[in-house]
Amino acid sequence: YLQNAVTKKVPYLRCNGNKELDKFIELSKPVTQNGTVADYIPALASAKQEHLSVSIRYLDGEEMYAGDFVEAFTLQSISKVLSLLYVLEFYGEEVVFKHVGKEPTGDPFNSIVKLEEGPDTKPLNPMINAGALAVTSLFPGNGVTERWERFQQFLTPFFEKDKIEVDTEIQKSEFDTAFLNRSMIYYLKQNEIINDDVEELMTLYTRQCSVLADCLDIAKIGSILAMNEGASFVSRRSVQIAKTFMVTCGMYNASGEFAIEVGVPAKSGVSGGILAVVPGRCGVGIFGPALDKMGNSIGGLHLIKNLSKSYNWSIF
Ligand code: DON
Repeated sequence: YLQNAVTKKVPYLRCNGNKELDKFIELSKPVTQNGTVADYIPALASAKQEHLSVSIRYLDGEEMYAGDFVEAFTLQSISKVLSLLYVLEFYGEEVVFKHVGKEPTGDPFNSIVKLEEGPDTKPLNPMINAGALAVTSLFPGNGVTERWERFQQFLTPFFEKDKIEVDTEIQKSEFDTAFLNRSMIYYLKQNEIINDDVEELMTLYTRQCSVLADCLDIAKIGSILAMNEGASFVSRRSVQIAKTFMVTCGMYNASGEFAIEVGVPAKSGVSGGILAVVPGRCGVGIFGPALDKMGNSIGGLHLIKNLSKSYNWSIF
């Protein structure tokens, strides 16, 4: 009986083009009305609640997309996956994990509370703001211009376009209002986890959060992470670490339910993006700026739950 259970093949279902994907958008679009667009970064508040888009990119390069896929949005917390990969590639895991931990928090993404608990004052993981700030503080180079330029070069092969663009209005809006993030930096500086200049770090961090992408770019990032062997510009080990964090902490304090309902590594951002990785199969990019109470795209979650069930995506 066990022998049979192990050898039984799970059907590899594949989305059959843009038309089939259109139906998933239709089904999830009404759900966007139940969410709210983020406004704690003032410039994000002008996003359109009803927007919803999705792209799937298979490992053979076939790409499909539906909904408002022309809309670009800022990466926000999706950038945390890329900044983590960058410092892992540059320093190796031993150095990186001196500054940030490996454990989920169960707290909201911007929570400061855990920094004061426990014997170890490192932020618990690189997917929460405190951890991502510690990661960005490791960006190599001298001064903002050089440090950004080097990170941008690392980002380029992950994107569809040749030139990385930043939404400077959204960046400024966050830079001018991110008092909680600044206070986390000060706290981490006090404990010698961060040695950076506070305003320089805020510039780099808000810039990485304000990198523009559309759902096709996100699906490309996902498809690179879905290649289990890694790529020429990012090692298998770094990708493995990033995907593990995506499973345990990528959807913040909704990561447990997401693992049950969808079952793939994923990362959300407050502008409404979701990056998902179906290992060995495809990358998925979703955009829907109306968010649920945990800060995840409400329409996007509905959409990816349906996709995962239809195409048998869960890795569990
Ligand atoms: O630091 C912040 O608050 C934002 N730039 C990013 C937060 C974010 O995307 C959380 N995601 N759900």
